[in-house]
Amino acid sequence: MKPKLVVFASGSGSNFQSIIDAVHSGQIQAEISGLITNNPQAYAIERAKIAGISALVVSEKYFETYAQFEENLVKHVRFFEADVIVLAGYMRKIPASLIEQYSGRILNIHPALLPKFGGKGMYGIHVHRAVLEAGETESGCSVHLVTENYDEGPILGQAKVPVFADDTPELVQKRVLEQEHRLYVQVLADFCERLMTK
Ligand code: GRF
Repeated sequence: MKPKLVVFASGSGSNFQSIIDAVHSGQIQAEISGLITNNPQAYAIERAKIAGISALVVSEKYFETYAQFEENLVKHVRFFEADVIVLAGYMRKIPASLIEQYSGRILNIHPALLPKFGGKGMYGIHVHRAVLEAGETESGCSVHLVTENYDEGPILGQAKVPVFADDTPELVQKRVLEQEHRLYVQVLADFCERLMTK
């Protein structure tokens, strides 16, 4: 049986799109059973609609306590019968109980060569700004398993890009994002294949 992926995304969802395309083309042997977002404005929702994938907005704002939110999130992941949770630009912390229950089956993509430029405050354009400020001559992206310590789980794959002297954070971001689309698909294809042969 093909594994079921549940994608978590908060924004544009370009990584989500490349995963949708790779599932359609058969490069990733899986089914995407749902999208979960915390952001009702996320363009990722539009992408899900176009692809005929159910999308749910689950936000802390809708609940009185964090525990209620956490419970609800887990319930919806279960409802989608997730085998694998794919974080694709999800801008919220993953609750501990979800990490525990899906240990080794939550993947994330980070727009830098971890362990460099990871952790608190390292998201979006901030990452690329920090890379330039540090005078790096290369950057890239990393796909890793999610553990309780954010951005510190085992790395499943990395792709590198050059960083030039006259680069701007936006240029580096664009260059890295292109590699993200390729890398995430590749790592997910391998990950799903291994799950099926287990
Ligand atoms: C990507 O840069 C990803 O590495 C980071 O968030 C961004 C999401 O972009 N975690 P998109 O929504 O997939 O376009």
